[in-house]
Amino acid sequence: MVIIASAPGKVILFGEHAVVYGKPAIAAAITKRIYVKSRLIDSGSGIQISSKGKTESTIEYVKRAIELVIGTKRMKKAKHGQGIEITIDSELPVGGGLGSSAALSVATIKSVSTLFGIDLEKEEIARLGKEVESKVQGASSGIDPFVSTYGGAIYYKDGRFSKCRQQINPFSGHGSIIIGYTGSPSSTKNMIANVSHLREKYPKIIDRIFDAIGDISERAKIILEEDNLNENENELGSLMNLNNGLLESLGVSSFSLSNLVNASLLAGALGAKITGAGGGGCIFALSSGEDWEDGEEKEVSTASNRSSRKSEIFEQFETRKSKICDAIKMAGGVPIPVEISHDGVRLESNSRKI
Ligand code: PMV
Repeated sequence: MVIIASAPGKVILFGEHAVVYGKPAIAAAITKRIYVKSRLIDSGSGIQISSKGKTESTIEYVKRAIELVIGTKRMKKAKHGQGIEITIDSELPVGGGLGSSAALSVATIKSVSTLFGIDLEKEEIARLGKEVESKVQGASSGIDPFVSTYGGAIYYKDGRFSKCRQQINPFSGHGSIIIGYTGSPSSTKNMIANVSHLREKYPKIIDRIFDAIGDISERAKIILEEDNLNENENELGSLMNLNNGLLESLGVSSFSLSNLVNASLLAGALGAKITGAGGGGCIFALSSGEDWEDGEEKEVSTASNRSSRKSEIFEQFETRKSKICDAIKMAGGVPIPVEISHDGVRLESNSRKI
């Protein structure tokens, strides 16, 4: 029997690092996923992993995830002496700050638990995913495995989450997200350790920075849940810039990350910030939405006038996006336009090529 499961990567919109210390954060699943195929094999009793660009940490996340599934002791299907073959296919750059490790853990947990005939609730998948991250990374807030399991945009604090109301795509028609990948991977484990050392040295100062980041997430949640997001997208951009400044002060930026942030802002982004652990990996920029004037859509009287005005506005929207993409390229990064995905972890058809 072969079981294929997949889980999405994510962008942290607001609050990374501070979230590890109990502050709120907001993250959203994206339309780039990791696929994990598992099957029982008779030869050998170990775990065989094949994946393009497999790293030590890939192996560690997969092994820990399988150990935890086996630890639930609800297996029905494995026979003594059988091994597991795992094949991974990823649309996410490894160590890119897009939650590849959480997506890998969550998809592995779903795939292997299904293979063993264990029916896990989403809640349990997310909690096991958090445990995998804590074991491999030393610490984890759990935000990545939660968003990867549930999909959509979530507000997360201390192991509890709620879906943001405009969860299907908080930016749909209200601007779009463009990811800029520096091309250099980063280690979440090392970045978390660096921030922790800084906090040991300057506890009062760093805790104030975490408080400020938490306040930014709280304000962003209010904006994301308002109906008139269009009017507030400028504020969302400003909050991204404030958050980025605070991440810089925590020492998690790099020359390439700052370069991509500045290039995006110069090209007209409303806001740009590091996303994820930093040190390398990605930034994301917010490009403004389709700007109909107040009530204009209703006022443009005839259907043909409305449709030509609509395409004009759409063209302006696309031009703004492509300017930011070009700027990211010119600054040495890889632009990745993404949508926010409603889908969390899921089983795939066995006929999927992987
Ligand atoms: O770089 P990523 O995708 O692993 O994101 C890590 C986010 C942190 O806040 C730095 C860690 C965490 O567990 O929340």
